[in-house]
Amino acid sequence: MRVSINQIKEMKQNGEKISMLTAYDYTTAKIVDEAGIPLILVGDSLGMVVLGFDTSIPVTMDIMLHHTKAVVRGTKNALIVGDMPFMTYHVSTEDCLRNAGMFIQEAGAQAIKLEGGVTVAEKVRQVVNCGIPVMGHIGLTPQSINQLGGHKAQGKSIESARGIIEDAIALEQAGAFSVVLEAVPYKLAALITKKLSIPTIGIGAGPDCDGQVQVINDTFGSYTEFVPKHARQYAQIAEIMRKAVAEYDSDVKAGNFPTNDNSYIIDKEVIAKLEKEYK
Ligand code: KIV
Repeated sequence: MRVSINQIKEMKQNGEKISMLTAYDYTTAKIVDEAGIPLILVGDSLGMVVLGFDTSIPVTMDIMLHHTKAVVRGTKNALIVGDMPFMTYHVSTEDCLRNAGMFIQEAGAQAIKLEGGVTVAEKVRQVVNCGIPVMGHIGLTPQSINQLGGHKAQGKSIESARGIIEDAIALEQAGAFSVVLEAVPYKLAALITKKLSIPTIGIGAGPDCDGQVQVINDTFGSYTEFVPKHARQYAQIAEIMRKAVAEYDSDVKAGNFPTNDNSYIIDKEVIAKLEKEYK
């Protein structure tokens, strides 16, 4: 049985911290799931860390469904959250419901995430009414990067902080089961966490959130373009991979790989016949 949204909500009530990571492929998702992480986000951050775009803006539904299916195939226990890409829930409620439904029905996710607070609350209500759990995402919302003017912390001024608090309340009232707080001052995140009955999941929002989410490539040290301030590298996978590739290259060049142990055998008589026939 996979983790349910009720179990995630209970974790807040029990004061149990919630860890969440992104995953975008079968192999990684399997490792994360087997480690017991209860929530996996197939984030549109894959646009940058998997596909090499500068932002998440070019990511489409087709791309998200493709990766979500792989993550679902690799997992048994975690609750999988599919991230609604840019412009797939903005134009109309019909669009939003259809696309949210595809994450659940076609890709096999158990919940969706979308960015925005007060402005998307009505759509969140409608998605929840269809039986689809919704995770909100407020503060720094990367799909609005052009409007926000860059990857900057949000909620530093009283007006901006009030806006984020109102967004959080609107999402809770609309029926979201949790809300991501990205790049907001930790004292503001603590205030919102106290105010809401649903869990807050922070990324760059300090230690007082009910849970934390990180982009797995930042955690593994495999995405080397930059390390965000809010991330901690628990491994330097890129270094390990570089070393492995260099060793492979030098073994191939030196004739040290493959050896007979890595190769298949043929019957002595068969090869002798073939050698005679084709000499
Ligand atoms: O796309 C993503 O990975 C996200 C997280 C950073 C929360 O939205």
